[in-house]
Amino acid sequence: MKVLDESGEDNPYLLGVYAPVQEELTADQLEVVGEIPRDLNGVYLRNGPNARFPMRGRYHWFDGDGMVHAVHFENGVARYRNRWVRTRAFEAESAAGRALWTGVMENPTANPFGNTRGLNLKDSANTDIVFHQGRLLTTWYLCGSPYTMDPLSLETLGAQTFLDTLTGDVMAHPKVDERTGELFWFDYGPKPPFLRYGVVGPQGTVEHLVDLDLPGARLPHDMAITENHTILMDLPLFQDLDAARRGRYKLTFDRSLPSRFGVIPRRGRADQIRWFEAKPCYIYHVVNAWEEGGEIVMDVCRVARPAPSGGGSVLARMISYLKLDARMYRYRFDLTTGTTSEEYVDGDHNTEFPSIDLRLTGRKSRYAYNVSVKQAPTNLFDGLVKYDNLTGAKQTYHYGEHRYGSEAPFAPRDNSSGEDDGYLVTFVTDDRDDRSEVQILDASDITKGPVARVLLPQRVPLGFHATWVRSDQLP
Ligand SMILES: [Fe+2]
Repeated sequence: MKVLDESGEDNPYLLGVYAPVQEELTADQLEVVGEIPRDLNGVYLRNGPNARFPMRGRYHWFDGDGMVHAVHFENGVARYRNRWVRTRAFEAESAAGRALWTGVMENPTANPFGNTRGLNLKDSANTDIVFHQGRLLTTWYLCGSPYTMDPLSLETLGAQTFLDTLTGDVMAHPKVDERTGELFWFDYGPKPPFLRYGVVGPQGTVEHLVDLDLPGARLPHDMAITENHTILMDLPLFQDLDAARRGRYKLTFDRSLPSRFGVIPRRGRADQIRWFEAKPCYIYHVVNAWEEGGEIVMDVCRVARPAPSGGGSVLARMISYLKLDARMYRYRFDLTTGTTSEEYVDGDHNTEFPSIDLRLTGRKSRYAYNVSVKQAPTNLFDGLVKYDNLTGAKQTYHYGEHRYGSEAPFAPRDNSSGEDDGYLVTFVTDDRDDRSEVQILDASDITKGPVARVLLPQRVPLGFHATWVRSDQLP
């Protein structure tokens, strides 16, 4: 079945390398080019949109049903499987045998149900995938229920309520501190409180929750933690309220407003948050943050011009809004003076979807592994870029013409000596023959290209976020 939307337009995010797949496969006998390192043991997991039914109304890339593609590496052998996330909405549409929801480009008021904030869009859990205390959580960018999946079978185990202590939703990119076992998240919505910040403790229950004041409804996508603090964002890109009253979803970037970064103690009260101002921008993804002297250092992929100029059709505007154009960028928030300094780490290369050694989340990290965003009308990741904070050196690797990758998490080798001692793992899809493979690169020198390639039985559509779960973390 070819999945399209009702508009009849050639939506590039439903075609070619983005086209959804309809089969859920389990494959153990995979052809390998090169040799899978025996000290690479764990699971590579990637989430992304994969519409099951033709969409009601127009399709936006963010609308597809969440599907996880996973490759489990064990003693030099790789196994692949892919499964949809069985969300409540997915089950309802499966029972009906057709799409029941419209997406973000249509008026959602007639949709069956939405998230707990009353936003009637389909919580598809399609955005990120995070591992916390033995649980694999799939998340949604507009804030929804994190859905738990088994990291090996990819069976959906249900909406995660943190032992019935979760009273709202969770955004796409919670942060996990492996050393403390805590998970940090926020929830935002169109009505006050515009931002809520919470902490799940190591026992798996919500131990901290505060409502935070913002000047209005915002669209924060990511956050950062350091050893003692959490950093939240108030960026001047938000929903146009006039358009919203007319039932339309339209974004506005207000250049007259600063970007604001709220630094709050990890378990702080609302009145303990300190706001640091910086130049207007939008940020999808944080690389990492840490404390250094009396400062907080935060590296991000910064979008200087988040709102494209010009008109065009609704579809054309969607495509230009979606196109990532970001640069590696560093903020320093001085906790003594309350001032911010900001500078480019790399003002040239358009890179996004950053990965670090997750064991260092919130601690000083030396390396970042980003995807290189191709100059093209849609989002295509044509290679990897590695940044070294200490020397300022940069390495790049290109997949070659017509080949596009995914987010490439760092996978420490067994008994890894620390940062950079391991591999990067990514799906690579070729748009000429519709084939996909997993590539394994030596993180310490990505310029050499893959040490092994595992050929997959079906195309992996281009998607969103990925993670690596080490074998010692598996239940
Ligand atoms: Fe994201």
